[in-house]
Amino acid sequence: MTGAHDSSVATLLEALPYIREFHGRTVVIKYGGAAMLDEGLREDFAADVVLLKYVGLNPVIVHGGGPEITRYMEKLDLEVRFHEGLRVSDAETVEVAQMVLAGKLNSEIVQRLNRHGQPAVGLSGEDGNLFEVAPVANAEQVGFVGSIERVDVDVLNHIAADYIPVIASSASDRSGQSYNVNADEAAGKVAAALGAHKAIFLTDVVGWLEDPADESSRISQATVAEVDEKLPSLEGGMRPKLQACADAIRGGAQSAHIIDGRAPHSLLLELFTDAGIGTMVIP
Ligand SMILES: Nc1ncnc2c1ncn2[C@@H]1O[C@H](COP(=O)(O)OP(=O)(O)OP(=O)(O)O)[C@@H](O)[C@H]1O
Ligand SMILES: [Mg+2]
Repeated sequence: MTGAHDSSVATLLEALPYIREFHGRTVVIKYGGAAMLDEGLREDFAADVVLLKYVGLNPVIVHGGGPEITRYMEKLDLEVRFHEGLRVSDAETVEVAQMVLAGKLNSEIVQRLNRHGQPAVGLSGEDGNLFEVAPVANAEQVGFVGSIERVDVDVLNHIAADYIPVIASSASDRSGQSYNVNADEAAGKVAAALGAHKAIFLTDVVGWLEDPADESSRISQATVAEVDEKLPSLEGGMRPKLQACADAIRGGAQSAHIIDGRAPHSLLLELFTDAGIGTMVIP
């Protein structure tokens, strides 16, 4: 019994310097679609984010929804294809992605945060002109995928004063054309625009792997220069994620982290303990 008490107290004491360091700071959290699949983990995530707000951090959530979008596309017999980590998006794909992201997943996350005791507000790239997008350079290969050219943080700052902002990664251009936006890119650019202290990417692997097929090959730490060097050789979802880590750091973040969203409370472990989990990118 005493032993258990000792370790609880030790854990709280370990957290104290971090709580002090992070007080009043903005942390952008990318919530990956793959980490959202399990009901228990979804509840844990909401509880963790609410705790961050209570201890004085300013959490901003940006979410993806890859697996769920794929599931609905398959229901509708639409072809699912990726090119260099980006979803190949024709007009129908963009429509489904928006319905799933903004219509379903975003409001579910908002509801869960509300239920756990901190009111949240959901928004997409169009709200308050949050994202200005243009077609990506390789639009011929990927279709309506947008690249974020500018983030207007005004709306976020207003909301974050009282609520937890929850951002769905979709956006439209001035003509009203909708685009799919990779959620990692959105998170990296939001972190940079807000001058966030940290950016944390929850995903479905233990971190950046030297060999994607070998979970024991995790790269625990890398500099932005090392990331830049390896970017062209990266595949799948890891490429936009590491690009986003670099964006966040160039925008002033002290570190960016890719952590395993399948591990319960990995967000709290990363923020408030000395445990070195996932991959940490530093300037
Ligand atoms: N070098 C690598 N290290 C780790 N994972 C890699 C690597 N290369 C490719 N991957 C793949 O990247 C995936 C994570 O990115 P993915 O885009 O699928 O999910 P997410 O970004 O967390 O969620 P969402 O795209 O819905 O926002 C992993 O499941 C893994 O298969
Ligand atoms: Mg992804």
